[in-house]
Amino acid sequence: MGARPQFIKSTAVSQAIDAHNEHGDASEMAETLLHTGQHYDDEMSDVFFRQLQVRRPAIHLGTGSGSHGSQTARMLQGIERVLLDERFDVVLVYGDTNSTLAGALAAAKLRVPVAHVEAGLRAYRKDMPEEINRVLTDHVSSQLFCPSRRAATNLRREGITAGVSVVGDVMYDVLSGRLATADEDAQERILERLGLKRGAFALATIHRAENTDHASRLAAIFKGLSQVAGDGLPVVFPLHPRTRAMLDSEAPGGVHLISPLPYDEMLSLMMNAHVVMTDSGGLQKEAYWLGTPCVTLRAETEWTETLEGGWNVLVDVEPDAIAGAAMRPRPDSARPPVYGAGDAAEKIVRLLVAEFGNV
Ligand code: UD1
Repeated sequence: MGARPQFIKSTAVSQAIDAHNEHGDASEMAETLLHTGQHYDDEMSDVFFRQLQVRRPAIHLGTGSGSHGSQTARMLQGIERVLLDERFDVVLVYGDTNSTLAGALAAAKLRVPVAHVEAGLRAYRKDMPEEINRVLTDHVSSQLFCPSRRAATNLRREGITAGVSVVGDVMYDVLSGRLATADEDAQERILERLGLKRGAFALATIHRAENTDHASRLAAIFKGLSQVAGDGLPVVFPLHPRTRAMLDSEAPGGVHLISPLPYDEMLSLMMNAHVVMTDSGGLQKEAYWLGTPCVTLRAETEWTETLEGGWNVLVDVEPDAIAGAAMRPRPDSARPPVYGAGDAAEKIVRLLVAEFGNV
């Protein structure tokens, strides 16, 4: 792992491994966490380990930023060294980042089995780095843990049927766990600190290269957000470093730029927002689970199930469409549990033990 959402996802699996080991059955499982260092700022990395109280990575490669080729290459070298040093039964990779691809490729070349958590997601556009990473990772994986049935269908269309299991989404495991133990005072404090009223603000995030790396798209998004603020809905915007680097001036009026937030604080804003506006995959799902309407600032989504009852809408980056979607009436349709029941990590551990428990 190496990027923010992976720290969150992996906590679910680490906890499920610990729970499995506490059962004291014969096949105890040891997990070594490797952090590539793709994300390195405290607020993009360490804060998640502190807040979610999971074990810390035993190995830190300190890769840092760079072009896709050099970043991925440095990770690949570092991971290969680790895999040559110590024998692992399986390498577990999460999602679709450069860290995912590097882990999968290093392992596959050394014939260490690869298990992919969040397999089968597709946007069907090859100009997205995430799409390249996830397609390649799926094709070298021997165990493919899908968050939904649709993801498994996507794999079948590409001829991948062996080792595919629909387990649900580990992010839902984490969210359900945190909601059960949520500190309501802390939730209240973040709203107070930011001067926000429950249900009366929009929460926005943007970080995808397809948006940040095109000045005209980024400008259109900010114009749309500013329109939302002008319509009476203040916009709070935790700024990803990639987006910060691309902004050449202050954000337009009504858009309140803040630093990236830890998990619980983000959850609190998502729960209390009138609408979530984002290009993040994780936020689209989290908004769906929390029952907060979402506007996705992209032309397509991998999480198509969230579109069905109108809880999520795709608007791309046209300012009037953005503002219109943010102000749309709240849907009243059901939100079926298409991404599992909060036990995805438990299922993953069970499947790993079944496969590797006796080696
Ligand atoms: C990566 C993933 C994306 C995932 C996202 C989550 C890839 C190709 N993309 O995108 O799928 O949704 O993480 O956040 O792997 N930077 C910092 N501090 C940090 C990390 C990054 O300043 O702690 C800056 C660097 O200048 C870097 C830029 O942000 O060049 C982008 O970081 P990078 O890791 O390349 O990709 P993300 O945009 O974060």
